[in-house]
Amino acid sequence: MPCADCHLSDVKYLAGDTAARYFDYTSGILFVIPKTETKECVLTAFETGFRHIDTAQSYFNEAEVGEAIAASGLDRRDVFVTTKVWIDNYGAGRTRDSVLRSLDRLRSDYIDLVLLHQPFNDYYAAWRDLIALQQEGRIRAIGVSNFSTGRAADLAAFTGVTPALNQIEANPLHQRADEQKALAARGIRTGAWAPFGEGKSGILDNPELARIAAEHGRTVAQAILRWLVQRGIAVLTKSTHANRIRENFGIFDFTLTDDDMTAIARLDSGSSVFFDYDAPETVDLFMRLVDERKGLA
Ligand SMILES: NC(=O)c1ccc[n+]([C@@H]2O[C@H](COP(=O)([O-])OP(=O)(O)OC[C@H]3O[C@@H](n4cnc5c(N)ncnc54)[C@H](OP(=O)(O)O)[C@@H]3O)[C@@H](O)[C@H]2O)c1
Repeated sequence: MPCADCHLSDVKYLAGDTAARYFDYTSGILFVIPKTETKECVLTAFETGFRHIDTAQSYFNEAEVGEAIAASGLDRRDVFVTTKVWIDNYGAGRTRDSVLRSLDRLRSDYIDLVLLHQPFNDYYAAWRDLIALQQEGRIRAIGVSNFSTGRAADLAAFTGVTPALNQIEANPLHQRADEQKALAARGIRTGAWAPFGEGKSGILDNPELARIAAEHGRTVAQAILRWLVQRGIAVLTKSTHANRIRENFGIFDFTLTDDDMTAIARLDSGSSVFFDYDAPETVDLFMRLVDERKGLA
């Protein structure tokens, strides 16, 4: 139960909707948010009620997130920060150094959750560096992103440390219900990026979602976010617009019915709006991204 002396770091004391609202519900700060806008977006998210900020080394805005946390006046223990290690920073010692730089940029002596961003390159060595940093108290929890359940299980089995969470694409067109179940069976939470498919897929114009949203007097965006929360998924939502940041937080005062959940389940196409992580072309794409991002800081 929440208590007066509890802070967000003490997640074990928070239950039900409180945990869902503060720990699971995340304002994502994607690469596409320019550095100049990041601080304002994070401060708006805090004013709205978000307490969990998702950034990444490859978004090049960790320093601005750190600046916003410092400027917010919030107790660090009441903010939850996730960052992700970029593929180019995988390697024994190399991952450690990169996380120490992230700590500097975030102006903190610990990070709540650090994820391996992609299942490419030497993720075993990177994972062992994260395990060591967690043992030293520099990281509270460690996890992965975009890993198949098989690769996450492999990592857990051969290092003895299970990822706390796998952050994957999940939205009404690519629902990942089987993966969520298989991950949960191994003690791994599912996190969802691109709940709206980044607008690429027409999800926000889907007539069935529009019908369900209208029945609750909500927007399609709110219905999707609520659907993910009710599935027990840790949701990431990103906007650069203050009105949408507020809209996206307004999902804790309504509940989708079982019929709504069943109707949305029927929309699953079973395939990604973005990448097939098993395709060799996806490795080529990420190799190009590594090159493109080398010069950025
Ligand atoms: N682990 C990974 O590999 C990975 C990959 C991608 C993303 N992520 C994380 O997940 C977060 C969310 O995913 P995402 O940004 O890729 O995709 P998304 O949430 O599906 O889409 C974001 C887009 O939706 C728009 N939007 C936001 N709220 C809206 C609303 N209420 N009504 C209409 N449009 C709305 C935003 O526009 P405006 O900004 O213009 O409002 C933005 O263009 C990211 O910020 C990032 O932190 C992680």
